[in-house]
Amino acid sequence: MKILVVGSGGREHALVWKIQQSPLVSEVFCTPGNAGIAQICACLNGDAVEIARQIGADFVVVGPDGALADGLVDRLNAAAFAAFGPTQSAARLESSKIFTKNLLEKYGVPTAKFVSFEDAHDAKNYLKTQLNGPIVVKADGLAVGKGVVVAKNRAEALAGVDEVLGIASQTVQNDAGRVVIEEFMSGEEVSFFALCDGESLLPLIEVQDHKRAFDGDRGPNTGGMGCFSPVPSFTPQLRETVIETILKPTLEGLKSEGVEFRGVMYCGLMLTPDGPKVVEYNARFGDPECQLLMPLLHSDIVPVLMACAGVGEKKLSDFTLQWSDDAAVIVVLAAAGYPASPRRGDEIFGLENVDGALVFHAGTRKEGEKIVTNGGRVLGVAALGEGFPIARERTYAAVEKIRFEGMHFRRDIGGRIAQTSKTGI
Ligand code: AMP
Ligand code: GLY
Repeated sequence: MKILVVGSGGREHALVWKIQQSPLVSEVFCTPGNAGIAQICACLNGDAVEIARQIGADFVVVGPDGALADGLVDRLNAAAFAAFGPTQSAARLESSKIFTKNLLEKYGVPTAKFVSFEDAHDAKNYLKTQLNGPIVVKADGLAVGKGVVVAKNRAEALAGVDEVLGIASQTVQNDAGRVVIEEFMSGEEVSFFALCDGESLLPLIEVQDHKRAFDGDRGPNTGGMGCFSPVPSFTPQLRETVIETILKPTLEGLKSEGVEFRGVMYCGLMLTPDGPKVVEYNARFGDPECQLLMPLLHSDIVPVLMACAGVGEKKLSDFTLQWSDDAAVIVVLAAAGYPASPRRGDEIFGLENVDGALVFHAGTRKEGEKIVTNGGRVLGVAALGEGFPIARERTYAAVEKIRFEGMHFRRDIGGRIAQTSKTGI
């Protein structure tokens, strides 16, 4: 079977790496890919539907939110290609915060209270009527995790309205000028994933992302600077609560609204003192979360992704997934200037010296014989181990081997967990 993966990030590198291990697969292609993906499979440039035709793809896996929100899965299906990922309508779970907040409210799924506004003026007038405490301001539409300001007080919130709209307007997908204002939730954050075939859910495992740019959760929000899994505070009981009170009602709600969600539901959770609540939903694998999920998954991913799309021999409900018992840590190496204005074109050194860890490429490209930076998040360095101290040591030992001008990364991914639990899990 020939599989085409669409995307160019660390997530897609991890997907290609995992898909290649499937005995069902004869060849994997990627569009557009990056320098690391090009080391393990053919990368092609152009329209994904045309490329699927050209290579005779049997199945297409669409990674990024932008392509999903643009309706790539609809176009692939219309051209008779089976594809993993939600249709444009179902991808609204991520591409429209207002769609999702209304859905969650209507179907009683716990989430922060919210109000939405058509423009900045109305949003600011509303903020002036609120207590002067922490509050969250978001732009509607996709803003690669950056269209959010968690304001400590009213003044920050007022400035935040212009800030999020400024950021969002630079991105391709934005519902012009709309703003969501949310109650501030405190607690630990967890990313939890479930595959979905429109009817049933197959929950995966939990990962903790670190969205702030700098150590100690300081600095601006990013797409994610590193992750660890499992998350010790996400107990089996909590997992069950999330499946029963959050994921299942969300899916039922979507069905009741006539939306068939096929793909992966990525639930961003806050473990608040009042129980788990939804921060946001995404309609794709998290990045860098996917770079840990793929190495931790022992089962073949291909038949499961196919079942989500309703193709292949088995139904999604027939699968039970096998996972590693190891702890896993990934650290993102970011370019100078990330997240505000990442610099490109710096040569990357030391990749050949890495052992004991996986290096997934994100913003990289080939320039002659060199590999150079080509985006904000450049590389993901991931390692597994028996317990967090070992997984962390492996990850950071590998990070030390790699360098490029202006490289920055967080040194505290999984640090607290490694210290607080004896076995690390
Ligand atoms: P989002 O793009 O909605 O995931 O928001 C990005 C980040 O902002 C989240 O990962 C949280 O750290 C933070 N955040 C978003 N909404 C809230 C909220 N209601 N309360 C507290 N923090 C939030
Ligand atoms: N790691 C956060 C995201 O994928 O949106």
